[in-house]
Amino acid sequence: MNDVLTMHNVTKTYRPPGRHEVVGLKDVSLKVESGAFKVVCGPSGSGKTTLLLAAGGLQKPESGSVKVGGEDIYALSSEKRARCRAGQIGFVFQQFHLIPFLSVLENVLAPTLAVPGNDSEEKARCLVDFFGISHRIDHPPSELSTGERQRVALARAMLNDPALVLADEPTGNLDEKNAEVVLKHLRDFAARGGAVLVATHDTGIKADEKIQLLDGALAGP
Ligand SMILES: Nc1ncnc2c1ncn2[C@@H]1O[C@H](COP(=O)(O)OP(=O)(O)O)[C@@H](O)[C@H]1O
Ligand SMILES: [Mg+2]
Repeated sequence: MNDVLTMHNVTKTYRPPGRHEVVGLKDVSLKVESGAFKVVCGPSGSGKTTLLLAAGGLQKPESGSVKVGGEDIYALSSEKRARCRAGQIGFVFQQFHLIPFLSVLENVLAPTLAVPGNDSEEKARCLVDFFGISHRIDHPPSELSTGERQRVALARAMLNDPALVLADEPTGNLDEKNAEVVLKHLRDFAARGGAVLVATHDTGIKADEKIQLLDGALAGP
């Protein structure tokens, strides 16, 4: 198994103008290997979202390093980092973040819409089918159930065959049955060789490793 994500001594402090500093992450190191399904747990405010943003190249920490596929992503130019993100990382969020005026198919294709000459439509249709939402392929997100919406977000995250999927509270808005479906898809993705890191406040989720965060730091075993 090779390391897909390596975070080493990552620290992030928020400095809102005119207010006190807030610790986001304090000296956090972790690894997610290919084929691994790992979970970051912790109460609200413990730094889970900050960790995923740093891991996904979306928010530069002030110190420490983040490697994705062996590449130190914050040492790259922002353009190269964006390309690395688009090629290697899929994101899934609690609020789905679907585009309301696009259809299911267009939402799945959204990451590639700006890429000239991309021919991902066939693949997107296969993913829509795979995630069991083909009966809604031409519908806008507003006409979908919450479980279906999250499956659209999963399909979108998988479109570019990412090595790493980062999921921030992906079951937070779902009932138990739909939550299980989403977690099963993420586990299956890991079983096919992908690397998965899920942030959740639900300590009951089974995982290859549970990483416990408290006030931005890894809690001891
Ligand atoms: N943009 C921001 N500006 C200032 N403080 C922030 C910002 N984002 C998060 N924080 C603070 O950082 C801490 C960790 O937040 P977060 O990573 O969102 O935690 P979690 O996802 O575990 O709820 C919290 O105290 C939160 O209030
Ligand atoms: Mg959060």
